[in-house]
Amino acid sequence: MTQFKDLVFSGMQPTHSLHLGNYLGAMVNWVRMQDTHACIYCVVDLHAITMPQDPKALARNIREVAAAYIACGIDPQRSILFNQSRVHQHAELAWVFNCVARMGWMSRMTQFKEKAGKDRENASVGLFVYPTLMAADILLYRATAVPVGEDQKQHLELTRDIAQKFNNDFADTIAEAGFGEAFFPLPEPMIQGPATRVMSLRDGTKKMSKSDPSDYSRINLTDDADAIAQKVRKAKTDPEPLPSEAAGLSGRPEADNLVGIYAALKDVSRDAVLAEFGGANFSTFKAALVDVAVEKVAPITAEMRRLTADPGHIDAILASGAEKASVMAEETMKAVKEIVGFARA
Ligand code: TYM
Repeated sequence: MTQFKDLVFSGMQPTHSLHLGNYLGAMVNWVRMQDTHACIYCVVDLHAITMPQDPKALARNIREVAAAYIACGIDPQRSILFNQSRVHQHAELAWVFNCVARMGWMSRMTQFKEKAGKDRENASVGLFVYPTLMAADILLYRATAVPVGEDQKQHLELTRDIAQKFNNDFADTIAEAGFGEAFFPLPEPMIQGPATRVMSLRDGTKKMSKSDPSDYSRINLTDDADAIAQKVRKAKTDPEPLPSEAAGLSGRPEADNLVGIYAALKDVSRDAVLAEFGGANFSTFKAALVDVAVEKVAPITAEMRRLTADPGHIDAILASGAEKASVMAEETMKAVKEIVGFARA
């Protein structure tokens, strides 16, 4: 078996300011993994334009999301932080993967079905091939672990299928080029913690999402204490008091979601939360939830504000990250070109 170096890769789209789902589902794990792994964190702006974007807002959002990464604890000295469009090899490898992936695989992607909606004829071709670009992001660095929320699981499975098919289709030239049995690793999804799927505050059966028209459905990392308090107060609940064990949350999606959010913010289990709040009514619990949410989010918001006041500094960080990423990316692309037969020695 070919041995691959442990490496973490993940990314977020700069289509909006980040919300609590992004933070608890992915970012908390990104920050943690810096202690044990080499990490690459990307602002995936090429993915953003698969849906229409206002260019000026996009430019602002790229910096704002980069600032959010840093404010949440991504350290550009330890991890590589850049925006995808600065490293052209992402698009180059995605093209190769467009020719490896099969139409049938892509047609099964639920995110495409959801985002394209009923008017599929009018969706961009980019939206359809979105997952091959995501596979390219990860495999360009031959990353082995990808911390994400649960909604990205299907894309990660596709990434593994593409890596496997590439390794099989080109097995001969991979071996001849000295890479052994496999050129690409099969990256592991890291879907961890009590909040891998944070739900809308208005409807516990729907994912918390940037595209929900109601801002009351989500807590943004840019929300101030008043906004957070109002959103939590208005969050949908049911009439029962909280149960004393996690098993009692089944069939109660809103209660389960709020308890999960509290658990993730405090870095404890749902059972630990319910040991404290079992039997309490929602007004007591919501007041405690506002306190921990504000305690976590307020310093992030303040730091983001400080960072975005100096866009030149953020651009310098992104440029320096892109320089480091480009070196790794070029090494992979050089090998890929040889393997597929573009540049045989
Ligand atoms: P994006 O920008 O939609 O979301 C970024 C990350 O946040 C997680 N997430 C959630 N987790 C829990 N509950 C929620 N309600 C919630 N909403 C979002 C997502 O799972 C994700 O981890 N396709 C990706 C971006 C991407 C990427 C990559 C990720 C592009 N290339 C390579 C990993 C590796 C996306 O749209 O994420």
